[in-house]
Amino acid sequence: MQADADPNLIVYFGGQYIALREARIGILTHALHYGTGVFEGLRAHWDEAAQELFLLRPMEHYQRWKQNCGILRIDVSASPEELCAITVELMRRNNLKTNVYVRPIAYKSAERVGVSPDDQDAWAIIALPFGDYLHAEHGIHAGVSSWWRIDDNAIPARAKICGAYVNSALASDEARRDGFDEAILLNQSGHVAEGSTCNIFMVRKGKLITPSVTENVLEGITRDSVIELAQQELGLQVVERPIDRSELCICDELFLTGTAVGMAPVVRVDHRPVKDAEIGPLTRQMQQLYFDATRGHLSAYRKWLLPVYHAQPEPAQCAARLEVTSVA
Ligand SMILES: Cc1ncc(COP(=O)(O)O)c(C=O)c1O
Repeated sequence: MQADADPNLIVYFGGQYIALREARIGILTHALHYGTGVFEGLRAHWDEAAQELFLLRPMEHYQRWKQNCGILRIDVSASPEELCAITVELMRRNNLKTNVYVRPIAYKSAERVGVSPDDQDAWAIIALPFGDYLHAEHGIHAGVSSWWRIDDNAIPARAKICGAYVNSALASDEARRDGFDEAILLNQSGHVAEGSTCNIFMVRKGKLITPSVTENVLEGITRDSVIELAQQELGLQVVERPIDRSELCICDELFLTGTAVGMAPVVRVDHRPVKDAEIGPLTRQMQQLYFDATRGHLSAYRKWLLPVYHAQPEPAQCAARLEVTSVA
């Protein structure tokens, strides 16, 4: 559990950089009652040797956020480039020199009763120091949840819609009360979907297997990064297909991926060991690759990173690279 954020933290709210304690919304706000908001989650990793903070794949995150906002007809007025620039500026104003989590949120902001949304939208971005989400040094123990993953025809699972996270909260709460570190949710056809806030991969017979994006999963950016690293760096075959629940018990390796989680190996599922209950060799290799790529140690993956303090001219992950001052 992370500590409460510092009330003096500078956040971007209502088009201004203000202290967190001043960023308040009204009790009748539509999104508070009906869950009509869409959020995003980005990470920036501090590299001590380089004395640099690397924001990870910000353009992809902001493009996804704006697309998903479209599902709820929420308009985020800024472009992805401008959003990148605001995020960099926030981290600089807060002088963040540690691992960071960035939480953009857009929501229906009318203050009245009635579920039908109108066109009043608002958005904000918060960047705060953030350590490990799951303590996964020795692998985690996951439990298959009694709660099903939400279905696309009820609330689209591929978008980070605020109200949909009741599903994740129920599953996560149940898992922790039952002594597990994380929940694995099945979808309505009984196949493995994902964790409460992360995608899932298993290794079987040397192949990396993950549910396809039409299995009611969030289309994870970490999932995408892991697929690219596995294919490009390890020459692994990656297969997107339905995963049966019982495959969780017989696979060779299992791990979870997500912006907050990073890569978390799963060594036990429902009190059964995954293989010999140790972190598997491919998982270890992938963890190292992911760590190196996200800290700027692999030149081929610099394309994913936006350096916050010492901008470099090339390669350009983001056109906003140094137009930061124009949005202050
Ligand atoms: C339900 C769910 N699945 C998967 C993910 C992983 O997505 P990403 O790698 O883009 O963070 C998240 C991230 O928050 C999530 O909430």
